[in-house]
Amino acid sequence: MSIILRAPATAAAPELILRPWRDDDRDVLLAAYRDPVLRRWSRSPVTTVAEAGRWLARVRQGWADDTRFSFAVLEPDAEVGDRLVANVVLKEVTPGRPDAEVGYWTAAPARGRGVAGRALDAVSRWAFRRFADTGLTRLELLHQVDNPASCRVAEKTGFRFQEVLPARPPFPRDGHRHVRSARVDHAVVVPDERRE
Ligand SMILES: CC(C)(COP(=O)(O)OP(=O)(O)OC[C@H]1O[C@@H](n2cnc3c(N)ncnc32)[C@H](O)[C@@H]1OP(=O)(O)O)[C@@H](O)C(=O)NCCC(=O)NCCS
Repeated sequence: MSIILRAPATAAAPELILRPWRDDDRDVLLAAYRDPVLRRWSRSPVTTVAEAGRWLARVRQGWADDTRFSFAVLEPDAEVGDRLVANVVLKEVTPGRPDAEVGYWTAAPARGRGVAGRALDAVSRWAFRRFADTGLTRLELLHQVDNPASCRVAEKTGFRFQEVLPARPPFPRDGHRHVRSARVDHAVVVPDERRE
C-alpha cells in the first residue's frame, strides 16, 4: 500500500501526483542531479549510481521509520507517460514535537511552472492531517538568503518569513526561516488523497 497525494490542476498546469520514491526512479534521480543548480543547493548531491542507491535507501528507511517522508512528484502526460518532475520531503518528524521541516527541489526542465509550491502545499496539508494527533502544528522551511526562488516558493505557499539565521557550517551564508502553521490549514479545503 502506498500513499498518493494530488495537487489540483491550474489553468496553466496539469494535476500533480505525489507518491513515495521507488527504486526504479534511480535513473530519473540521477538525471535530475546532473543540473548544477540542484547540486549547488543540495547537502548530499547524487552523482553516481551508488549515491543514487543510498539516497533511495535512505528515503525507504525514512518511510519505514515514520520520521522522514519523501515524495516523488509526477506530472501525468498522456503521450509519454508520467514525468517525474520534483521532490518534496517532510523530515524531522518526532511524535510529541510540534514542529517538523520541509525541503524540495524541481528538476531543471520543469522549473518556473509553480510545481514546487503546489507539491509543497499538498504535502503540508497532508502532514498536518496525518500528524495532528501527535501534536504537529508548525512546518519550518529553511533556505539560504541567496536562493530567492526558494524564498518565493515559501511565501507563495503560506510559509511566512520568521527570522534570519546566521551562517554556520555547512551553510556559508545567512539563511531564512519560514513557518507555516496548522491553524491556517484548518480553514482551507482538503485536497484529494487516497491510498492504493
Ligand atoms: C527553488 C525551486 C524549488 C523552485 O521550483 P519551481 O517549481 O521552479 O518554482 P516556481 O515555478 O514557483 O518558480 C519559483 C519562483 O521564484 C521566482 N524566482 C526564480 N528565480 C528568482 C530570482 N533569481 N529572484 C527572484 N525570484 C526568482 C520565480 O519567478 C517564481 O516566482 P513567481 O511564480 O512569483 O514568478 C527550484 O528553483 C529548484 O529546484 N532549485 C534548486 C534546489 C533548491 O533550491 N531547493 C530549495 C532549497 S531550500
